[in-house]
Amino acid sequence: MNKITKLVSAIGLSAALVAPVIAENMKIGFLVKQPEEPWFQTEWRFADKAGKELNLDIIKIAVPDGEKTLNAIDSLAANGAKGFIICLPDPKLGTAIVNRAKQHGLKVIAVDDQFMNSKGKPIESVPLVMMAASEIGQRQGQELWKEMTKRGWKVEETGVMAITNNELDTARRRTTGSMEALKTAGFPAAQIYEVPTKSNDIPGAFDAGNSTLVQHPKVKNWLVIGMNDNTVLGGVRATEGQGFKAANVIGIGINGVDAVSELSKTSATGFFGSLLPSPDVHGYKTVYMMNDWLTKNIEPVKYTAVTDVVLLTRENYKEELAKKGL
Ligand code: GLA
Repeated sequence: MNKITKLVSAIGLSAALVAPVIAENMKIGFLVKQPEEPWFQTEWRFADKAGKELNLDIIKIAVPDGEKTLNAIDSLAANGAKGFIICLPDPKLGTAIVNRAKQHGLKVIAVDDQFMNSKGKPIESVPLVMMAASEIGQRQGQELWKEMTKRGWKVEETGVMAITNNELDTARRRTTGSMEALKTAGFPAAQIYEVPTKSNDIPGAFDAGNSTLVQHPKVKNWLVIGMNDNTVLGGVRATEGQGFKAANVIGIGINGVDAVSELSKTSATGFFGSLLPSPDVHGYKTVYMMNDWLTKNIEPVKYTAVTDVVLLTRENYKEELAKKGL
């Protein structure tokens, strides 16, 4: 008889009754609008890392539209989750999501994209972790100017294709920052052509880019601005379709992780590089915040802007991604 069994029989209990109860992990959801983007896959990966460290189960759900989002919240509640982190598919779903979460007593943290009410006003009561959008946008404009100067392009022969999505606040702030930086550097405002994309993916940006190219047939060199890698990739693909050579196009994306296959192509394209913010921090930090909120009642700060950013190019992308374990 070992000590425990002796003790158990001494106090007259059967061993089965005192068998340790294995505690179930607490569950939290991590919902993202576009799981096909490596950006969101990276957030999930680092959310899982934090989950392992904290003994949490991270329930990962793709929420490409409003209906799937509300269903996902119901199913989280049914599965006993206590809260969720979300990059919502449409900022205007903010109120509906807040209400549904309240109904189930779930806590909510927004990541990447800010919640809006149906009138398009930000819902500041929902804690938000996002990239420092204006600053990162400005950096895009500065890097475009730098590369254009390096190539010795004449300003009068150059146009800016600025593919926008102004309904999404983070996108609006990035592209505005980028255009402002270019103007500050000396680029003429009249040669910056804004065009909205219908969807946040390569095909949407490709169509937007094409319409710009058709309207400005005299431009010799193009700078391509967009809120993320796919937007800029769509614009660059449009220039290729219209016969522009890589030497006459400079596109710089944002997200970094979504640009890896483009940057690893053997010959250079018009897609010059990408600014890599911190999807790892977004995924990891939001899970820690949610855990503190649920287990220690520490309310998350309402707004966290993640500022670190590095420019990935064909030359340095492997090394820079490796530095962050990506
Ligand atoms: C938005 C974009 C994503 C990514 C994130 C980063 O959600 O759609 O591609 O850039 O912002 O915060």
